[in-house]
Amino acid sequence: MSENKNEDFPSVAYAERGGKAVYPGSFDPITNGHVDIITRGLKIFGRILVAVLENPVKTPLFSAEERTAMIKEIFSAEPQVEVMSFAGLLVDFARNHDARVVIRGLRAVSDFEYEFQMALMNHKLNPDLETFFMMPSIRYTFLSSNMVKEVHWLGGCVRDLVPPIVEAGLDEKKRRAERSIS
Ligand code: PNS
Repeated sequence: MSENKNEDFPSVAYAERGGKAVYPGSFDPITNGHVDIITRGLKIFGRILVAVLENPVKTPLFSAEERTAMIKEIFSAEPQVEVMSFAGLLVDFARNHDARVVIRGLRAVSDFEYEFQMALMNHKLNPDLETFFMMPSIRYTFLSSNMVKEVHWLGGCVRDLVPPIVEAGLDEKKRRAERSIS
C-alpha cells in the first residue's frame, strides 16, 4: 500500500481529481436504469462521456443519431455530460477522448460473466483503462432496453421505465411500423 491509499485504487484517485469517465452502451433505447447510473456517476466523476455504439452488425430500433439525440436532450441541463456515438474499439475511443475509466452498470449475477470478460479484454488492450462497476437502484435491476421494447410493442406501459422523450420515440416507431404493415 502506498501512503496515499487511493493511489492503489486508480479509478478512485482519478475520480477524486474530477476525471472523465466513458459510459458506453447500445442505449437502444436509453432507460431509467441508464439515467440512474449516469446521474449517480456524476457524484463520482467530474465528467461523463456517454458513448453510443454504432453497430453495423445489429439493426437497432433507433439509429445512432436518434439514440444520441435523445440522450443529449435528457441531459441538456447537465454540462458535465457529453454524448457521442462511436464505432470501433472502446479502448481507442476512450484514449482519443482522454477518459481513463469505463463505467458499466451491473444489474444481476447474470450480467457478471459478460462484463467480467469485457473488462478483462479492455484491460488487456489498454492496461491504463480501468472499468468501474456501478449497481443501478434496486428499482431498475430488472430493466433492460430489450424488455422495454418488447413490453411497449405488445401494448404495455413503459412510462416509469424510460424518460418521456424515449416513450414518445417508441410510440412514433410503433405508429410507423403499424402504418407500414396495414
Ligand atoms: O449496452 P451494451 O450492448 O451491453 O454495450 C456493449 C458495448 C458497447 C460496451 C461493447 O459492445 C463495446 O464496447 N463495443 C465496442 C467494440 C469493442 O471495443 N469490443 C471489445 C470490448 S470486449
